[in-house]
Amino acid sequence: MSEADIERLCDFLADSKCTIALTGAGISAESGIPTFRGVQGLWEKYDVMEFAHIDAFRRNPAKVWGMLLEMDRHVVNARPNPGHVALAQLEAMGLLRLVVTQNIDNLHQTAGSREVVEFHGNSKRLRCLECGEMQPPESVDPENLPPRCACGGLIKPDVIFFGEAIPWAANVKAFEYAQRCDLILVVGTSAVVAPASEIPVVAKRAGARIVEVNPEETPLTGRVTDLMLRGSAGEILPRAVRMLMDRRH
Ligand code: OAD
Repeated sequence: MSEADIERLCDFLADSKCTIALTGAGISAESGIPTFRGVQGLWEKYDVMEFAHIDAFRRNPAKVWGMLLEMDRHVVNARPNPGHVALAQLEAMGLLRLVVTQNIDNLHQTAGSREVVEFHGNSKRLRCLECGEMQPPESVDPENLPPRCACGGLIKPDVIFFGEAIPWAANVKAFEYAQRCDLILVVGTSAVVAPASEIPVVAKRAGARIVEVNPEETPLTGRVTDLMLRGSAGEILPRAVRMLMDRRH
C-alpha cells in the first residue's frame, strides 16, 4: 500500500462533509473471527442454506444452534483490533458520521464507535420466535439444544438469517445515509449479500465517492469504487488516522 494511496484517502476524508462506513466480516478477521467466504470461511465448512436460512433453523434448530455456539466461542473472546479502533477515532475526530455493519459481534461499539447501525442484528441479544420477548443469555444450555422460551417458542439470537427481513429502522437509516453521504468506506466485505451490497451502489448513484479497503477485489471494484486500498483494515485505517492527526498538528 503506497503512501500516495493513503494520502488520497485522507484527502477524500478531509473534503467530505458526510462520510459513512460499511463494514463486513473482514474487519473482524484480525480479531480472530472467521469470515464467511474464502478458504477458511464459515460457509466452506457449513452449507449456507442448511445453516443460515430461517427455514433451516425452524426445521432443525438444534443443528443450527450447534453452529451458532461455535461462532459465539470466537465472538465472546474477541477484542477490537486497530481497524475497529481507527473507525472509532475517525468518528471522534468528526470525520465519520456512521458505521453500518453487517457484523453481529459488537466490536465497533466495544472499540468506541457510537453511531452504529447493526444491519444484520447482534448475537448478544436473544429473542423468542413466537412471543418476541427478549431472553437472558442463561436460557441457552449447550447440553439441551435448542433453547426454548417459557411460552414454548424457539429462542434465536437476534441476528438476521437468509429469508428474514433487515430490521426496519436499520434499513431506513442505512439507505438514508447512503443517499446523502459524499464518501463511503467499504471495509472488509465481499459485497455479495443484498441489500447491504446495494448501499455503496446507491451512494455512488447519489454522487458519493467509494473507497474500498480489502485484500481482495469485490464486485464493486472497477465498477463503482473510486479508490481501492488493497490490504488489511487493521493496517490501512490506522495509517490514515495517523496521517490525518499529523496534518492537524
Ligand atoms: P465475507 O466473508 O463474505 O467477506 C469478507 C471480506 O473481507 C472478503 O472480501 C475478504 O477479502 C475481506 N477481508 C479478509 N480479511 C480482511 C482484512 N484483514 N481487512 C479487510 N478485509 C478483509 O463477509 P461479509 O461480506 O461480511 O450474513 O458477508 C456478508 C454477509 O454474508 C454476512 O453478514 C453474513 C454472511 O452470510 C448473513 O448471515 C445474513
